[in-house]
Amino acid sequence: MEYKNLLVEFSGQIAVVTINRADKLNALNIETIHELKEVFTSLQSNDEAAAIILTGSGEKAFAAGADISELNKLDVISGKKFSEDGQQVFSLIEVMEKPVIAAVNGFALGGGCELALACHIRVCSDNALFGQPEVGLGLIPGYGGTQRLARLINPGRAMEIILTGNMIDANEALRIGLVNHVYSQTELLPKAKEMANKIISRSRSAIRLAIKSVNAVSEMSLQEGLNYEASMFGLSCGNFDYKEGTSAFLEKRKPVFKDK
Ligand code: COA
Repeated sequence: MEYKNLLVEFSGQIAVVTINRADKLNALNIETIHELKEVFTSLQSNDEAAAIILTGSGEKAFAAGADISELNKLDVISGKKFSEDGQQVFSLIEVMEKPVIAAVNGFALGGGCELALACHIRVCSDNALFGQPEVGLGLIPGYGGTQRLARLINPGRAMEIILTGNMIDANEALRIGLVNHVYSQTELLPKAKEMANKIISRSRSAIRLAIKSVNAVSEMSLQEGLNYEASMFGLSCGNFDYKEGTSAFLEKRKPVFKDK
């Protein structure tokens, strides 16, 4: 399928989705948000795609936020809907059953930072800059930033980032746990692919259940989460891959997983 604002390329079993509005620093206009919904919905059911990397085109930006020319036209009712529509798409990314890695290659501001937060894992280039500058526009983050940032990092740091609107650089993002690794610009995609390939060399049926279980942390109390983990663990024990993985270890051979 062709997209106006996205590029989708396959590198083996990894789908690389690139936000492709470099002249607008990959700002997320409504059309791009719709296309993200389409592409992630289609990749969810595409057996060719075992993992997804999300990045931005050019060397300057992952995504510099929601498109301010569209933000400028909202009112109380349409603003709420705007926020809910984006949140729905970002939640779809968060609950993908395949690993989604954000390869942040420059500015990740506002909706761009929130988009990275919705991915399962974040890595970035050394020129990356993160921030939630909405308060400088008289707005608050509306695509999940107040919730996901405060869950991912120390809530006090999240509050500071959101209230000051300050940008933080790649090393600071690494230090506070907003990203897992920082690479040079040229290394970023190869390293993200290396990580994706490592993940997809594991049991995919186990990966699916692990994503669900880790995602539960933001919705459940500890005891509820433990109960959920036990259910997911039980389900993994019903899979072919579990028999294969444990038998292969005992037989001192490499497992041959079947994704079931
Ligand atoms: N929405 C719409 N257009 C945007 C945009 C956004 N969020 N961010 C950048 N652009 C556009 C600029 O308007 C400019 O378009 P033009 O060439 O047609 O004038 C183009 O992208 C390049 O941006 P520019 O501002 O010239 O680049 P810069 O290197 O001087 O500054 C930023 C980079 C990221 C600091 C600056 O673009 C910026 O502050 N963007 C807005 C960030 C923001 O507030 N995001 C949150 C929105 S909720």
